[in-house]
Formats: sequence, C-alpha cells, structure tokens
Amino acid sequence: MDDYLVSARSLAPAADYLVVNVSSPNTPGLRLLQDVETLRPLLTAVGQEADRAAGRHVPLLVKIAPDLSDEDIDDVARLALDLKLDGIIATNTTIARTGLSSPSEEVEKCGAGGLSGAPVKQRSLEVLKRLKHATGDALALVSVGGVESAADVQERLDAGATLVQGYTAFLYEGPFWAARINRQLAKTRA
Ligand SMILES: Cc1cc2nc3c(=O)[nH]c(=O)nc-3n(C[C@H](O)[C@H](O)[C@H](O)COP(=O)(O)O)c2cc1C
Repeated sequence: MDDYLVSARSLAPAADYLVVNVSSPNTPGLRLLQDVETLRPLLTAVGQEADRAAGRHVPLLVKIAPDLSDEDIDDVARLALDLKLDGIIATNTTIARTGLSSPSEEVEKCGAGGLSGAPVKQRSLEVLKRLKHATGDALALVSVGGVESAADVQERLDAGATLVQGYTAFLYEGPFWAARINRQLAKTRA
C-alpha cells in the first residue's frame, strides 16, 4: 500500500490520469491485489492521496488481467462504479498458454510470465464486452490486448471501448503504427 501512495503522491501533480496496475504477472503476488476486498481500500487511498497531492481531481483507472474469472470481472466493474473510478484498462498480459502454435515443450522452456499480442486478443475483447455490459456509459473503458490492425481497433470501439491501446503491435510495427491505423480508420469513415 505504501508504495502505491508514495507513487500517487509523486506523480499526481504532473499526471493527466493515474492507473493502478494490479495485473502484471511478472511481479510475484501483484495479481492477488485484484481481489475486491484488497482493491477497495487500495484504490480509495490512492485516489484520495492523488487528489490531495495535486489539488484537483486526477482521473484514476485500474488495470486488470485477462485471467480473472467472469465473476471477478463483474466484481471489479461493480467496485469501479461504487468507488466512482474514472475507468478500467483491460487487459494486461495473460498467464494462459492455450491456443499457441509453438510445441508445448518449447513454450514451457520459455518459462513463466505474461503473453501479449495475438494470444490475448480474444479474451481481451471478451473482457471488454463484459465490462461494457456491466458498466454502461459510466466509465472510460480502455481496451488493450492483441490489437494489431484498424479492423481490430474498430472492433474494440464497436464493443464499447472509449480508448484503444497497443503495445506488442507497436513494438513489431514501429513508431508510425498508430498513425497508420488512424489513417485507415479515417478512410473507412470518409
Ligand atoms: C515487455 C512488456 C512490458 C509490459 N510492462 C507493463 C507495465 O509495466 N505495466 C502495465 O500495466 N502493463 C505492462 N505490459 C502490458 C501491456 O501494457 C499490455 O496491457 C499487454 O501487453 C496487452 O497488450 P498488447 O497485446 O497490445 O501487447 C507490458 C507488456 C509487455 C509485452
């Protein structure tokens, strides 16, 4: 808790928004914080500390894992509404190893950690749809996970995303990736 408060206090005055990331599989124990009973006091304290340090409301979002059960996703959605958070970012990387084309021995050799890009695409979209159903228009929903193309972005927008992010495709396709997508989207809308 203290680490989050120190970060919130330091960053809030310069931040357009803050995200509490409780979903990285690469920090041992971090994802346990997604349990709503743990998350509630954490988000409450971070929100209060951020607003106090900045002297204004700093929008606060929470970032969740694709590996949460559907019930847990609904719980986080309810909590976000209850705490009047500004939004949810879905999703982080996955610890699942299903649907991969590489042989399982090879996958195992790579060890633990989160997978991003194509393997997380379908679940990320499912989580977005579930969050949209649970929260309506009350929150900003930021969709991330396996977004590669303009069609992917459009699919996320159609499913209720307020904003769409990409990390893996940006790494593979380079710094002009987002601009290319925006141009393609503009063309299809013209
Ligand atoms: C190398 C790497 C580092 C990441 N570091 C973070 C991080 O520090 N904080 C975070 O919230 N998400 C982190 N992520 C997760 C991404 O922001 C994103 O949620 C996830 O990769 C799914 O999107 P993508 O398929 O477009 O990569 C990281 C992902 C990768 C691949």
